[in-house]
Amino acid sequence: MYEFEVRSAIRDYRVRFIDSASEVLLAELRPGDVLLVDSFVAKQLDFSGVVDEDTHIIEIAPSEEAKSYEGVKPVIQSLLDVGFRKNERLVAVGGGVVQDVTAFVASVMFRGVEWLFFPSTLLAQCDSCIGSKTSINFGAFKNQLGNFYPPSKVFIDLKLLESLPDKELHSGLGEMAHYYLVSGEEDLARFAREAPDALEDHEILKGMVAHSLQIKKSFIEKDEFDRTERQVLNYGHSFGHALESLTSYGLPHGIAVSYGMDIANFVSMKLGLLSAGDRLRMREILEPIWRPYPLPSFDLTEFMRALRKDKKNVGSQLGLILSEGPGNTSKRLVDVTPEFEGWLTEYFDAEVPRA
Ligand SMILES: NC(=O)c1ccc[n+]([C@@H]2O[C@H](COP(=O)([O-])OP(=O)(O)OC[C@H]3O[C@@H](n4cnc5c(N)ncnc54)[C@H](O)[C@@H]3O)[C@@H](O)[C@H]2O)c1
Ligand SMILES: [Zn+2]
Repeated sequence: MYEFEVRSAIRDYRVRFIDSASEVLLAELRPGDVLLVDSFVAKQLDFSGVVDEDTHIIEIAPSEEAKSYEGVKPVIQSLLDVGFRKNERLVAVGGGVVQDVTAFVASVMFRGVEWLFFPSTLLAQCDSCIGSKTSINFGAFKNQLGNFYPPSKVFIDLKLLESLPDKELHSGLGEMAHYYLVSGEEDLARFAREAPDALEDHEILKGMVAHSLQIKKSFIEKDEFDRTERQVLNYGHSFGHALESLTSYGLPHGIAVSYGMDIANFVSMKLGLLSAGDRLRMREILEPIWRPYPLPSFDLTEFMRALRKDKKNVGSQLGLILSEGPGNTSKRLVDVTPEFEGWLTEYFDAEVPRA
């Protein structure tokens, strides 16, 4: 069994690859622990047969509303109603939504309780399960409230992915691609070699999940609080978040990020930072991820409005992670000029499929 430790200023934690989420869950649960479970996964796993009948289970139907200031209130209310105490733990089983709700609630409940995580989406397994970030939405504003609050343990069971729809699997591939491209040439080649078979072969997929987490670990252990080195992991994310918001989150995060990296590369090329050849080499691994999911039509003004909301912007300048080639990404402040807007118009008109 593969496992590793992540160092954190808050608490170090272990990540273990396991073969049976139900068995490990049963072994880990202590009296008083409360399960927070994705409602789809709850049906799949039928927890009633796994945990004892005194264990409280809170089901969460994942949506951006569920992980909001209003959405966490019923969760906190249920915990108070069942007499949850500070020495007891929250156990999350689900994707990034269940993770963000659980981690946020765990961080504020009684000034902090422990939480464990069984990620059930590829995106949560390859990315969000480590790194300590918790975020919830406030009204229409995404990820505005949050802090850094890691789990005590993470258990990754790839068998949970068997029921995951293709769209969510592609989303995970998109998120993994961003780690491999930030990492460098060798990992670009590795992704090109392994990704085409990964969804059919769980051994390959497991290796890719583990490698993505290793790349992420190397950044978060240097800069857990996202002030310096970790910021390059936002590669593809400013443009990606704008696309997610324009599609009302119909485009899953990792697919939006795969478009977002290609947009960042297009802008990098126009700014003279990236050669056309390097841009195409990266596009070759990204395009298969987004190809089945064409972008809807929208005005550039709407896209720019969404882009201007990014937390990395400074004053009127956009804070973008741009690329000079695989493994060579950095944050740059970019002015919104008519020329910049012209590049984006050219991109959306000619470079990507539109529905
Ligand atoms: N805290 C962080 O570091 C971090 C990092 C990245 C993303 N996020 C957040 O995570 C969220 C996205 O997470 P996600 O992509 O994991 O999606 P998700 O949690 O929204 O789940 C996506 C869909 O998959 C379903 N699902 C989950 N597990 C399943 C399974 N095993 N089989 C079948 N269906 C399953 C869910 O019910 C849902 O319909 C966003 O809100 C994003 O902001 C957080
Ligand atoms: Zn991401």
